Amino acid sequence: MLTIRSPLLRLVSSLLLLLLGTTVQGAPQQRNGGNNRNTGNRGGGNTNGNGNDAQQGARLSQATDGSTILDATANLNGVPLRFKISAPASQFTVNANVPGGNQNPVSQGQLGINVLLHGDGGQSFFDFPNQAVQGNLMGVVLLAPSENLLWGQRTGPPSGLSRVDGAADAQLVNDFIQTVLPQVVAFDQSNVFFTGVSGGSLLLSGFFMPAHLANFPNTGVLLMCGALEPQVDVVNASGFITNSKIHFQSTKGELESLQGAIPASIIAYELLAVDAGLGANQIGQLQTVDNTPNGGHCEFDGAGFVSGIQLISENFANIMQQGGDGVVQGIETATVLNSVVGNENLQFVNA
Ligand SMILES: *[C@@H]1O[C@H](CO)[C@@H](O)[C@H](O)[C@H]1NC(C)=O
Repeated sequence: MLTIRSPLLRLVSSLLLLLLGTTVQGAPQQRNGGNNRNTGNRGGGNTNGNGNDAQQGARLSQATDGSTILDATANLNGVPLRFKISAPASQFTVNANVPGGNQNPVSQGQLGINVLLHGDGGQSFFDFPNQAVQGNLMGVVLLAPSENLLWGQRTGPPSGLSRVDGAADAQLVNDFIQTVLPQVVAFDQSNVFFTGVSGGSLLLSGFFMPAHLANFPNTGVLLMCGALEPQVDVVNASGFITNSKIHFQSTKGELESLQGAIPASIIAYELLAVDAGLGANQIGQLQTVDNTPNGGHCEFDGAGFVSGIQLISENFANIMQQGGDGVVQGIETATVLNSVVGNENLQFVNA
């Protein structure tokens, strides 16, 4: 059993211990959310006390839009799960012990959330590209409980598209949102969006969406630079496929292994919609795709991995929410919102 060393979240911990067999504790130091994959990799998972955690609390920092970022670790389903929440200070619960946070636990807030899952190695967890409130959504990032920071694979070196722990990690993400998050921040539980980056997109499309997306209807999933066909049974397809926005965003120079996997995923989700009785026009409203950027893996701005992901993140509302026109300054296409119907077979260069 892990020790609870954070006075900050002690109340949360006790509650969760009682109710869920769960503990929450402070994450170790990670300055400014970090900015590269070499920092603090295993931080959240290292709970045995290495003597340098003098602060013994969840860390607070300021987001780019003035929101407060809470960086902490929950023990959930037997694994430590490090997370960051970026929210206006007033939206944190009294349990979170964030200055200004005065919400009751498990109270509905006005703002929804956008939960981002990073790619292999964890970079986007540290960068937190979705930290600014956008389109009424607060940013949440989770760090894969994995020795190499791979979503869907807890131990061992990266093994490409294979994600042996995909089902367990998808369950973890679902349970985190339903049980841990409401203790810490007030949010609109009917307004939970998702963003995947590379390996995070594999986890979402391959495991999370088929198993759990029906729990979060009428929202959407933005899949950047990666996608898989469902790898597990699709639960209650009509509960989400008829009302969830799904956008696939790739590049011309996508990784070769993904040049087959992304189109296969597009076709699989399109077929789910067809099976649910949607027509081509309805599908085109809900399921969209673009890979016009002239860049490599995740280089949506044609320049870099980090800047490319940041660009798409900053256009989240414009791509994912109702009324968005999908115009992204920096991507040379009229709109990234092209119906998947008829555009399943993406054209890549250097195939
Ligand atoms: C399917 O999902 C929808 C949307 O969340 C829900 O309202 C419905 O109760 C679910 N049906 C089943 C059988 O779980």
